[in-house]
Amino acid sequence: MSKRVALVTGGTGGIGSAICRELAGLGHTVVATYYPPEKEAAEAWQKRKKEKGFDIALAAMDVSSYEDCERAVGEIARDKGPVEILVNCAGITRDGTLKKMTEANWKAVMATNLDSVFHVTRHVINGMLEKGWGRIINVASVNGQRGQFGQANYASAKAGMHGFTMAVALETAAKGITVNTVSPGYVATAMTEAMPKDVLESIINSVPMRRMGKPEEIAHAVAWLASEDNGYTTGANIPVNGGLFTSH
Ligand code: CAA
Repeated sequence: MSKRVALVTGGTGGIGSAICRELAGLGHTVVATYYPPEKEAAEAWQKRKKEKGFDIALAAMDVSSYEDCERAVGEIARDKGPVEILVNCAGITRDGTLKKMTEANWKAVMATNLDSVFHVTRHVINGMLEKGWGRIINVASVNGQRGQFGQANYASAKAGMHGFTMAVALETAAKGITVNTVSPGYVATAMTEAMPKDVLESIINSVPMRRMGKPEEIAHAVAWLASEDNGYTTGANIPVNGGLFTSH
């Protein structure tokens, strides 16, 4: 199996961490990005991973800034080589019903969850095209497929990510690049832990598997999409949601 340079945005987060561990365990050179003001927490995360045998590089990257992504991707290419596997996993929530949603909470979610996908991918795509090989995986959400009360911003951004996936998949299909979305359901991370307990409980009760997902279950799907074996799936939206939403 070829060893690749893999970039995971939001790599220090709940799902991002599992993806980093999985890709590093397969022998890839993994770079996890973190939000620049969170340097100390990111370095502590890196130390914990190292103690468990995972050597993961860190890159400060404000994914909401086109210029900062250009800088960071350039530095990674210089230090490690061009990015061959890109996992767009950075994301935030600012939940609230539309009647109360502020413009700031709309814009923050769109910038971090959707603009980021353009900002980062735009700076890796030419390298992949030159090489004739690339894997792009966008981590969206079941709530981008079915909507969710209190998430007009988040559901819009996550649905938009898959639009991006489909368009870029068509542009790159003949060039050795696959572009896919993974749409997790409710996964046990700090993001879901921050939800009101009663709301979370009622959602878990509505999941056909009657449990939350594990970050590793998302990481396995990402790893398959990132592998050499996946040469023929592109433009797809892979649900990993315990049956919460089924589609054709
Ligand atoms: N469906 C229908 N009505 C609902 C409802 C629902 N799911 N949830 C609340 N309501 C009703 C309430 O009963 C209440 O009705 P009344 O006004 O008649 O009493 C009303 O809506 C409350 O409206 P408010 O605007 O006052 O809402 P709120 O301030 O109480 O809180 C909320 C709304 C912040 C959205 C809160 O419900 C919440 O946090 N929900 C969780 C949203 C969620 O699932 N987030 C996922 C986070 S994790 C993630 O995003 C990862 C991933 O990809 C899955």
